[in-house]
This record gives sequence, C-alpha cells and structure tokens, in this order.
Amino acid sequence: MPARNLPSSMLEIAITQPGGPEVLLPRRASVPSPASDELLVKVLAAGVNRPDVIQRRGFYPMPTGASPIPGLEIAGEVVALGRQVRGFSLGETVCGLTNGGGYAEYCVLPARQALPCPANLDVVRAAAIPETFFTVWANLFMMGRAVTGETALIHGGGSGIGTAALMLCREFGIRALATAGSKVKCDAISGLGACAINYREEDFSAVVARETGGRGVDVILDMVGGPYLSRNIAALAKDGRLIVIGLLGGNVASQFDLQNLMLKRAQITGSTMRARTPDEKAQIAAAVHEAIWPVIGAGRCLPIIDSVFPLASAAAAHSAMERGEHIGKIVLRVPG
Ligand SMILES: NC(=O)c1ccc[n+]([C@@H]2O[C@H](COP(=O)([O-])OP(=O)(O)OC[C@H]3O[C@@H](n4cnc5c(N)ncnc54)[C@H](OP(=O)(O)O)[C@@H]3O)[C@@H](O)[C@H]2O)c1
Repeated sequence: MPARNLPSSMLEIAITQPGGPEVLLPRRASVPSPASDELLVKVLAAGVNRPDVIQRRGFYPMPTGASPIPGLEIAGEVVALGRQVRGFSLGETVCGLTNGGGYAEYCVLPARQALPCPANLDVVRAAAIPETFFTVWANLFMMGRAVTGETALIHGGGSGIGTAALMLCREFGIRALATAGSKVKCDAISGLGACAINYREEDFSAVVARETGGRGVDVILDMVGGPYLSRNIAALAKDGRLIVIGLLGGNVASQFDLQNLMLKRAQITGSTMRARTPDEKAQIAAAVHEAIWPVIGAGRCLPIIDSVFPLASAAAAHSAMERGEHIGKIVLRVPG
C-alpha cells in the first residue's frame, strides 16, 4: 500500500456517552488503516453538521459498521492509498463525504466519495462542502427534480444546508423563498437573493401564497418535519414535491388531511445521507463533481463559513451549533 510515514497514534474526539457537548472528549487512538477502496487522509479541516449533534445526543440511527467517531465531511492530504484506488495520489488535497470519523487527525475516506479540493478554496471551505452540498444536490435536485424556472421554499434558510441550497437555487435559476427565525438570518437570506420569511412573525404558507399569487412553490426542502407537514402541503403548487431531510420540530404529523395531498397531486419523500449505499453516495459525488465543481471553480456558490474551532474544542463548536445563532457552516480546524 503506497503510504507516507505515519505516526502510531492520533488525536480524535470521542462521544464518551450520549449527552451534551461536554461528552465530546479528545483522546489518543490508533491511526486507521484504509481498506482497498479507501484513502487515508491527514485531516486539515472537518465540517460540523447537525447530524453530528443528533448522534452525540444518542438519537441518530447509526449505519452498521460506521465509525462511532463523529465527522461526516473532511478536507485534507492523502497519506495512504488502498490498493484498488485509482485517480488519486499521495500528497493530493481532497475533500469528501466520510462514513464517520472526521473529528480526528486521520480519517479513512471511500475513494468514490472523495473529490479533488477546488484549487480556489482553502481547506476550511473545502471541508464545508461534502455533507452539505451532497445532501442539497441529492434532495433538492435529484429527488426533488428542481429545475430552472421553478420556485422553491427552503426551510432553515440560515443553516449550513439552507445557505448552500439558496446559493444553488440562484445559480440554477430557481426562484427561492426561505424561512428563518431572526432578522439577522432573514437579512442573510435576502443577501443570497431569496425572499426571506421570519417564521416567528408570519405564517410561511400565507407568505408563499402572497408571493406566488396563490400558485404555491414547486418544491420544498424541509428540516422541521411534523409540525410543518400540513402547511408545507398548503404551500405547494400542483404536482409539487416536498422533500423532508430533517425533523428538528418533531417526527410526528398529527391531524394531516390527506385530501390536500390528492387535490395538489403532491409528492412527499425524504432521505438521509448516511443510510445510502456506497454506490448511491458515489453517484451523488459524481453528480456534484459534474454540476457544482465548475461553479465553485468559477468562484460562485462558495460555502459560507460562520466560525472555525480547533479540533480539540469540538465541544465548543457543538455548543455554538446548538445556540443556533450561526449562519452557514461551523468548521473544525486540525491540528487542534
Ligand atoms: N437527510 C440528510 O441527509 C441530512 C444531511 C445533513 C443535514 N440534514 C439535516 O438538515 C438540517 C440542517 O442541518 P445543518 O447541519 O445545516 O444544521 P444547522 O446549520 O445547525 O441548521 C439548523 C437550522 O434549523 C433551523 N431550525 C428550525 N427549527 C429548529 C428547531 N426546532 N431546532 C433547531 N433548529 C431549528 C435553525 O434556524 P432558525 O434559527 O431560523 O430556526 C437552524 O438554522 C438538520 O435537520 C439536519 O439534521 C439532513
């Protein structure tokens, strides 16, 4: 196996028990070995995502065999190559979607989930792309079939996912409306070219009706879940698509009137990235490479970075995410 000289141990951030940010503790561990189809990456930056917080609390259904160490997206230097890996070389800077384990100095990365780091991005920005942009592309564009000329509603418009979705909507000619819970987030949403809706002040479905002349939106990317289901269907145009990617408001939708679904010919679906098969993740990586890499290379749709924490301060990064004041992405910088 081609490899650089590697240390015998590394720093990683463990979830020592389900709980608050304080259960995230640095510890020494063995450097992982890449399987034949994996890269070993010296991590230089790792994105923090809401699913990491849900995992830390003990509520994430972990795929079998996944690393228990949090961290779903990284950027760094390739320091070892599995024997079947083609198309990457030692010393190359890559970013990619992990199967866990990103909060560490070294992480194995399936080669088909890795992409070359865009030359115009530093590693912090590159690490903020994979989980976020893969999720938006897979849900809003592949499953949701959003196309130029359509209108989208993005819930959580100030989030890492939301800001990426809004930039991609603008890039691909999709008119966007987006919800957020504060004026500062609404201002950021307006700055990304979308119509901002402060959900604490206005009913989003009423604003959608007003802004679309009663027609509704073609597609909704939702991370709130149960409490929004009825109003999401009300906000859809005929043949509209609702894609649920998060359940921040709760899993259960009570008193949902199915007649509204029929009258709209609405489609409801949802997905979670971690549960996808390696082939599905590879297809999404290839699609993102084809559709989004040229855009990023041209300097557009660059991830918005809210704040950067050292790896050893992962607990502080999680506290910041749970305060919920951030706009865009929180990233860990390694070494930490
Ligand atoms: N399905 C998938 O494959 C997948 C992959 C990645 C992420 N996700 C999901 O996508 C969502 C966003 O992830 P992210 O990493 O971008 O997170 P994030 O930056 O922390 O954003 C979460 C956003 O949700 C909004 N929100 C609305 N209701 C909330 C509530 N009850 N509690 C907390 N926040 C609430 C917050 O904005 P306001 O202040 O405006 O309320 C915040 O901007 C999460 O639900 C995550 O689980 C899904």
